[in-house]
Amino acid sequence: MLQGKKIVLGITGSIAAYKSCLIIRQLIKKGAEVQVVITPAGKEFITPITLSALTSKPVISEFFSQRDGTWHSHVDLGLWADAMLIAPATAATIGKMANGIADNMLITTYLSMKAPVFVAPAMDLDMYAHPSTQQNLKTLQAYGNHIIEPGTGFLASKLEGKGRMEEPENIVACLERFFDVQGSMKGKKVLITAGPTYEKIDPVRFIGNYSSGKMGFALAEECARRGAQVELVCGPVSASMQTVSPLIHRVNVESAKEMHQACLELYPAMDTAILCAAVADFAPESIADQKIKRTGYDMTIRLVPNPDIAAALGKMKKDSQTLVGFALETHDEAAHAQEKLARKNFDFIVLNSLNDEGAGFQTDTNKISIISTEGKEDFPLKPKAEVAKDIVDRLTQLVMR
Ligand code: CTP
Repeated sequence: MLQGKKIVLGITGSIAAYKSCLIIRQLIKKGAEVQVVITPAGKEFITPITLSALTSKPVISEFFSQRDGTWHSHVDLGLWADAMLIAPATAATIGKMANGIADNMLITTYLSMKAPVFVAPAMDLDMYAHPSTQQNLKTLQAYGNHIIEPGTGFLASKLEGKGRMEEPENIVACLERFFDVQGSMKGKKVLITAGPTYEKIDPVRFIGNYSSGKMGFALAEECARRGAQVELVCGPVSASMQTVSPLIHRVNVESAKEMHQACLELYPAMDTAILCAAVADFAPESIADQKIKRTGYDMTIRLVPNPDIAAALGKMKKDSQTLVGFALETHDEAAHAQEKLARKNFDFIVLNSLNDEGAGFQTDTNKISIISTEGKEDFPLKPKAEVAKDIVDRLTQLVMR
């Protein structure tokens, strides 16, 4: 629903600036209010008169109005807007946004923006494919901005001959989808486990796995974006893994036992839990209190089973609660997933297969199937942020029933 939404539309110096008129027309037709902020280069491509006629508002470009010297407050715009859309966004603007170079009204408005920001890149393919542009886009995404690429409507991980701006109707559809689900999980409490666990061998060594935590973090942001309060119980992930939404509370743990303890304490107050962590199934029976020295002989570490967090929560689960599990299988995937669904009392299970290129550990993309007692639904390869939307869409059907 775009009815009544206040949109700041940032326009920069690209030939695609003429398409901004179509974006404005569609936004206004759907009931939105549009305030244009244009860069000096943007004005070379489209005149402010056209834009102010379409939006029924003066176009903002400079820090001060040329006519009467009134100050244009980027801070006020940042508070006024429900969303900021930068379309077209040139390589230069994307670079300035990623690095905080606030040398025009559009970038200062971006830096003051309290609302979600959408960016529709527009440039030729070589500029788009350049590692610095790609790095800047990834940086913007890591800051919580939404990148709208041609063809997909989101930041894809592979370049497929793009660079040209996404069509206006698809850009508007992206914003519409965003507002449609915003707040749909308001008041709900979600527990999410993410990342690996480390099982200590001695003070300097551990048994771990390759899980990056990216899928769990994407799920946390998606639930928070829909208004849920999220408890993110997180194993040892890289320092670059940071949450964006203030609705996410992060609990850092190291071992499976610590994760188990945190989940047992949190789950009773939750509406749902998504168990995305790659929990070690075994831990060393004892932890050496000093570094184990080389002896020249074979050595054995005896492992004992770790608690199964999923099974424990499955047992505690009340009728009002739901539980979602993950499974990463190397063979007989669907059969193993069905068995886990029953054994751990999951409402549904997200299956990712290591046999699919681009799916699983350490990647930015994932290819999943959702398995429930009602059957199996397969999804195509997508960025993890998009996969999170598919999973949370399914979850909301259960949580909001
Ligand atoms: N899980 C958990 N606690 C564990 C092991 C797994 O909560 N100690 C959760 C995972 O987060 C995931 C689901 O259970 O949601 C399935 O994990 P997986 O490792 O595939 O299951 P296992 O029970 O370890 O089964 P197996 O080793 O036979 O594949």
